Amino acid sequence: MKLTLRVWRQPHAEAPGAMATYEVDGISPNMSFLEMLDTLNEELVLDGDEPVAFDHDCREGICGACSLVINGDAHGPEPTTTCQLHMRSFQDGQTIDVEPWRAAAFPVVKDLVVDRSAFDRIIQSGGYISAPTGTAPDAHATPVPKPDADFAFEHAECIGCGACVAACPNGSAMLFTSAKVNHLNVLPQGAPERETRVLDMVAAMDEEGFGGCTLAGECATACPKGIPLPSIAAMNKEWLRATRKVRR
Ligand code: FES
Repeated sequence: MKLTLRVWRQPHAEAPGAMATYEVDGISPNMSFLEMLDTLNEELVLDGDEPVAFDHDCREGICGACSLVINGDAHGPEPTTTCQLHMRSFQDGQTIDVEPWRAAAFPVVKDLVVDRSAFDRIIQSGGYISAPTGTAPDAHATPVPKPDADFAFEHAECIGCGACVAACPNGSAMLFTSAKVNHLNVLPQGAPERETRVLDMVAAMDEEGFGGCTLAGECATACPKGIPLPSIAAMNKEWLRATRKVRR
Protein backbone atom coordinates (compact mmCIF):
# COMPACT_ATOMS: atom_id res chain seq x y z
CA MET A 1 0.00 0.00 0.00
CA LYS A 2 1.07 3.55 -0.70
CA LEU A 3 -0.31 6.24 1.60
CA THR A 4 -0.19 9.97 2.13
CA LEU A 5 0.07 10.85 5.82
CA ARG A 6 -0.74 14.27 7.22
CA VAL A 7 0.73 14.20 10.71
CA TRP A 8 0.54 16.80 13.50
CA ARG A 9 4.08 17.97 14.29
CA GLN A 10 4.76 20.10 17.36
CA PRO A 11 8.31 20.27 18.76
CA HIS A 12 7.23 20.95 22.35
CA ALA A 13 4.28 22.09 24.44
CA GLU A 14 4.78 25.84 23.92
CA ALA A 15 5.63 25.68 20.20
CA PRO A 16 2.95 26.14 17.54
CA GLY A 17 2.01 22.94 15.72
CA ALA A 18 1.09 22.19 12.13
CA MET A 19 0.25 19.26 9.88
CA ALA A 20 3.21 17.86 7.91
CA THR A 21 2.73 15.68 4.83
CA TYR A 22 4.66 12.43 4.25
CA GLU A 23 4.43 9.67 1.63
CA VAL A 24 4.92 6.06 2.79
CA ASP A 25 5.19 3.10 0.45
CA GLY A 26 5.42 -0.67 0.84
CA ILE A 27 2.91 -0.81 3.70
CA SER A 28 1.41 -4.26 4.29
CA PRO A 29 -2.35 -4.42 4.96
CA ASN A 30 -1.45 -6.71 7.88
CA MET A 31 0.68 -4.10 9.62
CA SER A 32 -0.77 -2.40 12.65
CA PHE A 33 -1.20 1.37 12.46
CA LEU A 34 1.73 1.81 14.86
CA GLU A 35 3.95 -0.46 12.72
CA MET A 36 3.08 1.77 9.77
CA LEU A 37 4.22 4.78 11.85
CA ASP A 38 7.39 2.83 12.77
CA THR A 39 8.05 2.48 9.03
CA LEU A 40 7.60 6.23 8.55
CA ASN A 41 9.95 6.94 11.46
CA GLU A 42 12.66 4.62 10.08
CA GLU A 43 12.57 6.59 6.84
CA LEU A 44 12.66 9.92 8.68
CA VAL A 45 15.66 8.83 10.75
CA LEU A 46 17.50 7.57 7.65
CA ASP A 47 16.88 10.99 6.05
CA GLY A 48 18.26 12.71 9.16
CA ASP A 49 14.85 14.07 10.19
CA GLU A 50 13.19 14.03 13.61
CA PRO A 51 10.93 10.93 14.02
CA VAL A 52 7.27 11.43 14.92
CA ALA A 53 6.70 11.08 18.69
CA PHE A 54 3.70 8.95 19.63
CA ASP A 55 2.63 7.02 22.74
CA HIS A 56 2.54 3.22 22.91
CA ASP A 57 3.46 0.43 25.29
CA CYS A 58 1.79 -3.00 25.23
CA ARG A 59 0.61 -2.90 21.60
CA GLU A 60 -1.92 -5.53 22.71
CA GLY A 61 -4.90 -3.28 23.44
CA ILE A 62 -4.63 -3.52 27.22
CA CYS A 63 -2.46 -0.68 28.58
CA GLY A 64 -4.26 2.39 27.20
CA ALA A 65 -1.05 4.17 26.14
CA CYS A 66 -1.76 4.52 22.42
CA SER A 67 -3.79 7.59 21.58
CA LEU A 68 -4.26 8.94 18.06
CA VAL A 69 -7.07 10.75 16.31
CA ILE A 70 -7.13 9.16 12.85
CA ASN A 71 -9.17 10.87 10.15
CA GLY A 72 -11.13 12.62 12.89
CA ASP A 73 -11.92 9.53 14.95
CA ALA A 74 -10.34 8.64 18.30
CA HIS A 75 -8.42 5.39 17.62
CA GLY A 76 -9.54 5.49 13.97
CA PRO A 77 -12.34 3.82 12.04
CA GLU A 78 -12.59 0.54 14.01
CA PRO A 79 -13.92 0.02 17.58
CA THR A 80 -10.50 -0.84 18.98
CA THR A 81 -7.29 0.74 20.22
CA THR A 82 -4.85 2.39 17.80
CA CYS A 83 -2.33 -0.42 18.37
CA GLN A 84 -4.92 -3.02 17.36
CA LEU A 85 -6.01 -1.10 14.26
CA HIS A 86 -4.64 -2.66 11.06
CA MET A 87 -3.86 -1.08 7.73
CA ARG A 88 -6.42 -3.31 5.97
CA SER A 89 -8.98 -0.84 7.36
CA PHE A 90 -7.62 1.72 4.85
CA GLN A 91 -7.45 1.90 1.06
CA ASP A 92 -4.32 1.91 -1.07
CA GLY A 93 -3.61 5.51 -2.06
CA GLN A 94 -5.63 6.96 0.82
CA THR A 95 -4.72 10.19 2.63
CA ILE A 96 -4.78 9.73 6.41
CA ASP A 97 -4.80 12.56 8.96
CA VAL A 98 -3.08 11.70 12.25
CA GLU A 99 -3.55 14.04 15.22
CA PRO A 100 -3.12 13.88 19.01
CA TRP A 101 -6.03 13.72 21.46
CA ARG A 102 -7.60 17.20 21.41
CA ALA A 103 -8.73 18.35 24.88
CA ALA A 104 -7.80 21.26 27.15
CA ALA A 105 -7.10 18.83 30.01
CA PHE A 106 -4.71 16.80 27.78
CA PRO A 107 -2.04 19.34 26.69
CA VAL A 108 0.25 18.29 23.84
CA VAL A 109 3.75 17.32 25.02
CA LYS A 110 5.26 16.70 21.58
CA ASP A 111 3.83 15.76 18.17
CA LEU A 112 1.19 13.10 18.91
CA VAL A 113 1.98 12.69 22.63
CA VAL A 114 -0.35 14.33 25.16
CA ASP A 115 -0.13 14.62 28.94
CA ARG A 116 -2.85 12.39 30.42
CA SER A 117 -1.72 12.74 34.04
CA ALA A 118 -5.10 14.38 34.80
CA PHE A 119 -6.53 10.84 34.71
CA ASP A 120 -3.92 9.70 37.25
CA ARG A 121 -4.95 12.48 39.63
CA ILE A 122 -8.64 11.51 39.31
CA ILE A 123 -7.71 7.90 40.19
CA GLN A 124 -5.56 9.07 43.12
CA SER A 125 -8.50 11.00 44.55
CA GLY A 126 -10.65 7.89 45.07
CA GLY A 127 -9.87 4.93 42.80
CA TYR A 128 -8.71 2.63 45.60
CA ILE A 129 -10.04 0.51 48.47
CA SER A 130 -8.86 0.52 52.10
CA ALA A 131 -8.65 -3.26 52.49
CA PRO A 132 -6.32 -4.49 55.23
CA THR A 133 -3.23 -6.23 53.87
CA GLY A 134 -2.28 -9.79 54.74
CA THR A 135 -2.58 -13.20 53.14
CA ALA A 136 -4.96 -13.51 50.22
CA PRO A 137 -8.50 -14.35 51.41
CA ASP A 138 -10.36 -17.37 50.06
CA ALA A 139 -12.00 -16.57 46.75
CA HIS A 140 -15.49 -17.04 48.18
CA ALA A 141 -14.87 -15.39 51.58
CA THR A 142 -16.69 -12.25 50.42
CA PRO A 143 -19.78 -13.26 48.45
CA VAL A 144 -20.59 -10.96 45.53
CA PRO A 145 -23.90 -11.38 43.66
CA LYS A 146 -23.29 -12.38 40.04
CA PRO A 147 -25.01 -9.27 38.55
CA ASP A 148 -22.80 -7.04 40.73
CA ALA A 149 -19.66 -8.95 39.75
CA ASP A 150 -20.58 -8.61 36.06
CA PHE A 151 -21.30 -4.88 36.49
CA ALA A 152 -17.96 -4.32 38.25
CA PHE A 153 -16.05 -6.32 35.65
CA GLU A 154 -17.67 -4.45 32.76
CA HIS A 155 -16.43 -1.16 34.22
CA ALA A 156 -13.03 -2.53 35.25
CA GLU A 157 -12.32 -3.04 31.56
CA CYS A 158 -11.62 0.70 31.15
CA ILE A 159 -7.94 1.06 30.19
CA GLY A 160 -7.85 4.84 30.71
CA CYS A 161 -6.77 5.63 27.15
CA GLY A 162 -8.74 8.89 27.02
CA ALA A 163 -10.56 8.22 23.74
CA CYS A 164 -13.80 9.19 25.52
CA VAL A 165 -12.39 12.66 26.24
CA ALA A 166 -10.95 13.07 22.74
CA ALA A 167 -14.26 12.10 21.11
CA CYS A 168 -16.47 14.28 23.32
CA PRO A 169 -17.35 17.73 21.91
CA ASN A 170 -17.07 19.04 25.49
CA GLY A 171 -13.82 17.25 26.36
CA SER A 172 -15.69 15.54 29.20
CA ALA A 173 -14.18 12.74 31.30
CA MET A 174 -17.52 11.52 32.65
CA LEU A 175 -17.31 8.08 31.01
CA PHE A 176 -13.79 7.44 32.35
CA THR A 177 -14.65 8.65 35.86
CA SER A 178 -17.91 6.71 35.93
CA ALA A 179 -16.10 3.51 34.93
CA LYS A 180 -13.68 3.92 37.83
CA VAL A 181 -16.40 4.86 40.34
CA ASN A 182 -18.84 2.12 39.31
CA HIS A 183 -16.17 -0.58 39.22
CA LEU A 184 -15.50 -0.21 42.97
CA ASN A 185 -18.76 1.23 44.33
CA VAL A 186 -20.81 -1.86 43.51
CA LEU A 187 -18.47 -4.26 45.33
CA PRO A 188 -18.45 -4.93 49.12
CA GLN A 189 -14.69 -4.27 49.10
CA GLY A 190 -15.39 -0.73 47.85
CA ALA A 191 -18.17 0.03 50.34
CA PRO A 192 -16.11 1.89 53.04
CA GLU A 193 -15.29 4.71 50.56
CA ARG A 194 -18.48 4.49 48.52
CA GLU A 195 -19.60 8.07 49.20
CA THR A 196 -16.23 9.83 49.44
CA ARG A 197 -14.98 8.06 46.31
CA VAL A 198 -17.65 9.46 44.01
CA LEU A 199 -17.59 12.93 45.58
CA ASP A 200 -13.79 13.20 45.45
CA MET A 201 -13.39 11.76 41.95
CA VAL A 202 -16.05 14.01 40.46
CA ALA A 203 -14.49 17.03 42.21
CA ALA A 204 -11.04 16.05 40.89
CA MET A 205 -12.48 15.66 37.39
CA ASP A 206 -13.90 19.19 37.54
CA GLU A 207 -10.66 20.64 38.93
CA GLU A 208 -8.69 19.18 36.03
CA GLY A 209 -10.73 21.24 33.55
CA PHE A 210 -12.69 18.51 31.80
CA GLY A 211 -15.97 19.66 30.28
CA GLY A 212 -19.47 18.74 31.39
CA CYS A 213 -21.53 15.93 29.88
CA THR A 214 -24.37 16.84 27.53
CA LEU A 215 -25.06 13.21 26.57
CA ALA A 216 -23.64 13.50 23.07
CA GLY A 217 -22.74 9.82 23.40
CA GLU A 218 -19.53 10.08 21.36
CA CYS A 219 -17.52 8.78 24.34
CA ALA A 220 -19.22 5.39 24.42
CA THR A 221 -18.96 5.10 20.63
CA ALA A 222 -15.20 5.74 20.73
CA CYS A 223 -14.46 3.58 23.78
CA PRO A 224 -12.38 0.58 22.65
CA LYS A 225 -13.57 -1.42 25.68
CA GLY A 226 -17.30 -0.80 25.28
CA ILE A 227 -17.92 1.09 28.52
CA PRO A 228 -21.66 1.84 28.10
CA LEU A 229 -23.21 5.32 28.19
CA PRO A 230 -25.58 4.40 31.10
CA SER A 231 -22.42 4.15 33.21
CA ILE A 232 -22.60 7.95 33.49
CA ALA A 233 -26.19 7.79 34.79
CA ALA A 234 -25.11 5.20 37.36
CA MET A 235 -22.34 7.52 38.58
CA ASN A 236 -24.74 10.47 38.77
CA LYS A 237 -27.04 8.33 40.92
CA GLU A 238 -24.12 7.46 43.21
CA TRP A 239 -23.16 11.14 43.43
CA LEU A 240 -26.71 12.21 44.38
CA ARG A 241 -26.89 9.46 47.00
CA ALA A 242 -23.51 10.54 48.44
CA THR A 243 -24.46 14.22 48.67
CA ARG A 244 -27.40 13.23 50.87
CA LYS A 245 -25.28 11.05 53.16
CA VAL A 246 -22.09 13.12 53.47
CA ARG A 247 -22.13 16.70 54.75
CA ARG A 248 -19.12 18.78 53.60
S1 FES B 1 -0.27 0.34 23.22
FE1 FES B 1 -1.28 -0.55 24.96
S2 FES B 1 -3.40 -0.34 24.43
FE2 FES B 1 -2.36 0.35 22.65
